[in-house]
Amino acid sequence: MKKIINGLSVFIEGNSKNKSIIFIHGFPYDHNMWKSQIDVLSNNYFCVAYDIRGLGESPIGDGQFTMESFVDDLETIIDELNLEKPIIFGLSMGGYISLRALERMQYKFSAAILCDTRSEADNNEGKLKRAAAIKRINTEGLAPFVNDFIRNCFAEDYKKNKEAELRKIIEKSSGFCPVGVKGSLLAMLGRTDTTQNLCNIKIPTLLVCGEKDSLTPPSVMKEMFHKVPNAEYVEIKNAGHMTPIENPEEVNNAIINFLSKLN
Ligand code: MLT
Repeated sequence: MKKIINGLSVFIEGNSKNKSIIFIHGFPYDHNMWKSQIDVLSNNYFCVAYDIRGLGESPIGDGQFTMESFVDDLETIIDELNLEKPIIFGLSMGGYISLRALERMQYKFSAAILCDTRSEADNNEGKLKRAAAIKRINTEGLAPFVNDFIRNCFAEDYKKNKEAELRKIIEKSSGFCPVGVKGSLLAMLGRTDTTQNLCNIKIPTLLVCGEKDSLTPPSVMKEMFHKVPNAEYVEIKNAGHMTPIENPEEVNNAIINFLSKLN
């Protein structure tokens, strides 16, 4: 079922009496990336996924986003739906939102799943890459950037064996509003570093990383894992940066195993 909350498109599945999980997608995707997880988890959990402002079906507005405004949106959804201590589940940019949300309001969550993400802010090289991406979108349009960016997210196996699926994902994201995509790039460029807060994350936390993730590689996520006191780390075989799409079975098993240990 789709709901509009503060203008945002929010997609809910499952029984609202069950424990809730809030899913925050990566860039430049939308809530559809969680399909394989929500199909399974909605049997036992109240699953809430939403399109980050500027992407998917959510409004673009003036396209001026910050990581703080993304966290504000998350908080509004949690409050409006009266979610009681949901499990927060974010991938990559969704992970940046999750990590900042944990820094601002850890008390709102009962557990966290952080997938293919990092706590460090962009360094100078990263900021210049974002600037170059915005320039490219302005000069060439969105599609060439989205094509290259998304292909870089997936491991070679997926690209070789699932070209049709990959094309569909690229096609969908190429149809997003360029202003919204550029707004996300600027929000990521301007985000704060949340590394110093990792030691303060006291809720059970699962870190998931694709073994072939070249954007947020296992070495980066293992470092995070060592800093979070109550954390588990799972590496997903045959997967790059988009583990929930590339190897849904292994990701789902890791999540179910983690969730089964929460009371
Ligand atoms: C994502 O998947 O959300 C992006 O790779 C994040 C980023 O560009 O830093």
